[in-house]
Amino acid sequence: MTYKSMPKVELHTHLEGCAPPAFIRGLAQEKSIDISGIFNADGTYAYRDFNHFLEVYEAACTTLQGPEDFYRLTKAVLEESASHGIVYQETFVSPDFCGGGDVTAWREYLAAMQTAADEADRDLGITLKGVVTVIRHFGPEASKPTATCAVETFGDFITGFGMAGGEMVGRPGDYAYAFDMAREAGMPLTCHAGEWGGPSMVAETLRDLKVDLIGHGIGAIEDSNLVRQIVESGVTLEVCPGSNVFLKANVFGKGLERWGDHPIQKLRDAGVKVTVSTDDPPFFGTTMTDEFNMLAQTFDWTEDDFRTLNQTALDAAFCDADTRATVAKRLETE
Ligand code: HPA
Ligand code: ZN
Repeated sequence: MTYKSMPKVELHTHLEGCAPPAFIRGLAQEKSIDISGIFNADGTYAYRDFNHFLEVYEAACTTLQGPEDFYRLTKAVLEESASHGIVYQETFVSPDFCGGGDVTAWREYLAAMQTAADEADRDLGITLKGVVTVIRHFGPEASKPTATCAVETFGDFITGFGMAGGEMVGRPGDYAYAFDMAREAGMPLTCHAGEWGGPSMVAETLRDLKVDLIGHGIGAIEDSNLVRQIVESGVTLEVCPGSNVFLKANVFGKGLERWGDHPIQKLRDAGVKVTVSTDDPPFFGTTMTDEFNMLAQTFDWTEDDFRTLNQTALDAAFCDADTRATVAKRLETE
């Protein structure tokens, strides 16, 4: 069976990272930007490893130059997501790529994204919410205007705050100022950790940034006390198995090579609340349908398991109660 039509909740995507390569090539052509070096001969994104992926990602972002481009991007992304049954999606959005941290510009970009999201909600039955995201390798100073943008626009569309980017740059505590600002404004928090940095990065992220969710978090499997702490605190992991296998994320000091070696099953068996997402689907050659199919194939997950997965994701989602109720109804219509 294929899980393409089953309704799905997806919490961990990066908006620009969902851009199909053909979409980025189209923008590049319109603006006469030469980014031919970031594509393989077959048209897919080309990069060697995670750090090079971040460079290619940023090169692709140079084609996104104004609110109208983000309107078109959001529309294209939601059409693709809806075709895989996604009824609720959260996506990381960054003021660094949308006006460079200026609040007035940021509001204009957000309005464009929100217009596209409203149209997709009406026409396709998919709801999108944005999580304002610090780019870690831009450094702690840059995280402060990002937090200001987040706090100033927290509301209907912007529902949370987080951090992505190069996980091995600095320590979580270096970004505590920005996370404190967001927490004091009442924003729920997430942070990428344990994709590369092992259990110590997850533990420091929980201790110093006091997040509600962890992006990836799979390195926690190396430390049973940490796994217990995660279970007891109720922190949910945004696990992205296809991304981890494609990028060879770090588990037990080795690059993850095979789906069968992915720790999601062990984390789940230990009682950790796990969710499943695609991260940057065209970059990693995956879709939510592929993720569901691979979990069914690798770990014998069934429809019941996927229903539980959806519910765990919906419970952890950063949205308001009305949206949660609307999405719960969409999940029932199976
Ligand atoms: N991981 C970390 N940072 C990112 C990613 C990712 O997959 N995509 C865009 N920024
Ligand atoms: Zn991510």
